[in-house]
Amino acid sequence: MFENIKADLLSALEKDPAARNKLEIILTYSGFKALCKYRIAHWFFLKKHYLIARIISQRARKKTGIEIHPGAKIGKGVFIDHGSGVVIGETSEIGDNVTIYQGVTLGGTGKNVGKRHPTIEDDVMISAGAKVLGPVVIGKGTKIGAGSVVLKNVPPYTTVVGIPGRVVKMHGKKYNDLDQKLPDPMLEELSRLNKRIASLEDKLGVVSCRYSIVNDPDNLNQQKEEEEC
Ligand SMILES: CC(C)(COP(=O)(O)OP(=O)(O)OC[C@H]1O[C@@H](n2cnc3c(N)ncnc32)[C@H](O)[C@@H]1OP(=O)(O)O)[C@@H](O)C(=O)NCCC(=O)NCCS
Repeated sequence: MFENIKADLLSALEKDPAARNKLEIILTYSGFKALCKYRIAHWFFLKKHYLIARIISQRARKKTGIEIHPGAKIGKGVFIDHGSGVVIGETSEIGDNVTIYQGVTLGGTGKNVGKRHPTIEDDVMISAGAKVLGPVVIGKGTKIGAGSVVLKNVPPYTTVVGIPGRVVKMHGKKYNDLDQKLPDPMLEELSRLNKRIASLEDKLGVVSCRYSIVNDPDNLNQQKEEEEC
């Protein structure tokens, strides 16, 4: 527990350019205070002292505006900046070095029982006001934009924005989901013509090069034929 608290302190110092020293964080950072209280409450929760755990967590909420259920599992080096309005549900799981800004909810959708809150992998950043709902998994190193509502699993190292959340960046490069899904009529037509030419050539017994730029999954020997030409 103390190791985790120390890691949270160092994380706040490292991630917040406004933080001057450890003492300032200990005395004034509500996110750090809420995490300390959570770690104590979680200890009682694990010992099955559920009421004591809930009392500690509700007192922390009153003082900091941050509500962390004592049953949640939170890794080390977590930084809750500003904090007010943060809600972390009972079955949430949060990895190491995660950053959470004010107004974030890690909640349920109301449709699930049992594991009903999100799993946040290491090094994720959840921006101000973002809501992550349901038992979804947010992949390592992902950034969730301010005000987003995320309802589906998110792959690692992506940026997700909007309502509902959509991937706009992957591994630091812009990503357009529509490019992956919209049909390409030109390519489809070329593919059709290519097949007709090939069948006519077969009928005429013409041996020819069948290299095609069309990435046709039916034409598995494309590369081999290209080499033969
Ligand atoms: C998501 C965020 C972290 C940026 O991540 P990034 O990986 O650097 O992404 P980019 O800035 O390159 O933005 C990618 C695209 O998403 C858009 N975008 C970024 N944040 C957005 C948001 N919150 N809502 C909607 N669209 C957003 C950008 O305009 C850009 O769109 P474009 O490709 O059409 O130009 C940042 O925009 C954000 O939301 N920061 C908030 C941090 C915060 O909570 N601060 C509070 C401090 S008190």
